[in-house]
Amino acid sequence: MKLFDLQDKVAIVTGAGRGIGRSIAKGFAEAGVKVVICSRTEVELLKLQGEIQQAGGQCEIVTCDISKKEDIENVIDKTIEAYGKIDILINNAGITKKVAALDMNLEDFEKIISVNLTGVFLFAQLVGRVMVKQRSGKIINVSSVGSDQGLKGSVAYTASKGGVTMLTKTLAIEWAEYDVQVNAIAPAYVETPLVEVVKSTREGFEESVINRTPMRRMAKPDEMVGACIFLASEASSYITGETIFLDGGWRAYGL
Ligand SMILES: NC(=O)c1ccc[n+]([C@@H]2O[C@H](COP(=O)([O-])OP(=O)(O)OC[C@H]3O[C@@H](n4cnc5c(N)ncnc54)[C@H](OP(=O)(O)O)[C@@H]3O)[C@@H](O)[C@H]2O)c1
Repeated sequence: MKLFDLQDKVAIVTGAGRGIGRSIAKGFAEAGVKVVICSRTEVELLKLQGEIQQAGGQCEIVTCDISKKEDIENVIDKTIEAYGKIDILINNAGITKKVAALDMNLEDFEKIISVNLTGVFLFAQLVGRVMVKQRSGKIINVSSVGSDQGLKGSVAYTASKGGVTMLTKTLAIEWAEYDVQVNAIAPAYVETPLVEVVKSTREGFEESVINRTPMRRMAKPDEMVGACIFLASEASSYITGETIFLDGGWRAYGL
């Protein structure tokens, strides 16, 4: 389908070493996208790069901590050096820590905000400068159902993701005239290493999520790929500032 064609596009995927970012990077590479994958753990990036290259795809790796501006600049420089442009940014890297608001210490609060909100902003801003100059680009932020619903034990996380919603809208407004679209996907619970950690620290967590989800299961990371292909392709040419929820019906309930 030409509408969804991403052949020879260039995408940066943050937090691609595992979980959702890994699936999106792999899915994009299968769709003919040249991917630049980044995270802090080189060994995970090398493994994914090997898999993509073995399947005939193109992939560069750059280690990066998205809370450090110089690291982000390095990813952008390496992407331009390798492929000459940036068509798509999957702004996915994120962290969480389950702790009651009354017990949350400031250091942990600020760390989560610095990755999930400030890091996402910085990456979008620095890539946005390239895209505005190109007069084309698609930025897809990875948000969460916690962007518009409270989640117990996730005060910093939900605050950061609520921020991502507004960041997405405001960047969309500012960059629309340059044909740079900014959207977000917002999953509910996805079976990734991040959720494994939450599962192991909270008894009954998985069961309660499944009971709360109309589709009666968590998502697989690969189920995040389709919406990203849609938002990265011509098929979404008149959508900007939007958040698409991939939640198995989670928000359809009117409690
Ligand atoms: N899983 C879910 O249920 C769920 C639901 C809604 C939204 N999300 C969102 O989806 C995104 C991905 O989550 P996930 O579940 O796939 O998590 P994950 O399995 O923990 O993977 C997170 C990825 O982000 C990278 N990362 C973390 N901090 C980073 C930093 N400072 N700089 C660069 N990379 C960093 C990690 O690599 P390193 O640690 O090696 O850097 C890893 O590759 C997050 O934004 C998360 O909030 C997840």
